Amino acid sequence: MKIIRAKDYKDMSRKAANIISAQVIMKPNCVLGLATGSSPVGTYAQLIDWYNKGDIDFSEVTTINLDEYRGLPREHDQSYWYFMHKNFFDSVNVQPDRIHVPDGSNPDAEAACREYDAIIRNAGGIDLQLLGIGHDGHIGFNEPGQAFELGTHCVDLTKETIEANKRFFNGDESLVPRQAYTMGIKTIMQARKVLMVASGADKAEIIKKAFFGPVTPTVPASILQMHPDFILVGDEAALSLI
Ligand code: F6R
Repeated sequence: MKIIRAKDYKDMSRKAANIISAQVIMKPNCVLGLATGSSPVGTYAQLIDWYNKGDIDFSEVTTINLDEYRGLPREHDQSYWYFMHKNFFDSVNVQPDRIHVPDGSNPDAEAACREYDAIIRNAGGIDLQLLGIGHDGHIGFNEPGQAFELGTHCVDLTKETIEANKRFFNGDESLVPRQAYTMGIKTIMQARKVLMVASGADKAEIIKKAFFGPVTPTVPASILQMHPDFILVGDEAALSLI
């Protein structure tokens, strides 16, 4: 595990974007596992900036996102498909047929997850997986208590996650989907490199617990301690307890 300390969110984003950029330069046809949420938005903005300056080219890159709400069509403004296009894909040259997000509109959970695992397998696995971390230690939608050995699967969102995400659904909890399709911990652990971004004092406690406490399914991110190439880039506030 390597921990990189950044001053603030902007610095964290630039450092994380540097690592992704190095990956794309070293292997232009690499497979990037991507995340949504507020943590990586600045990283995407930095990559877009470098793309606009001609410093990075995504034309051969394949992207595979971590997760998607079950039951939301792509066009829904809270779908992760929509988020990724708004915050990244619409501004860079990733080829549309190389963009992958779990199909939230497929009601057949088993088929949707099986197909997604096949996509990951056929792409040759993930070279670099970008992650955020939830306050309870979740990664992707792998909530506390999930088995470490799962591939893509359908999960029930916890009360806390529904509560945390309602701000994106006009503050109305009843509008938040109850399930999601997510890469499993096994899939994440099989990525050749894992890069987590964490920002803000509200993440300090869980960062300490996940990376300086025991490895346990009750803190899903703690398994990353066992990953051979895991990099945590955090800002001062998020790393303040370690
Ligand atoms: C996003 C995802 C989630 C988030 C986590 C942190 O695709 O899978 O695990 O990374 O909920 O979210 P933020 O970054 O908004 O604090």
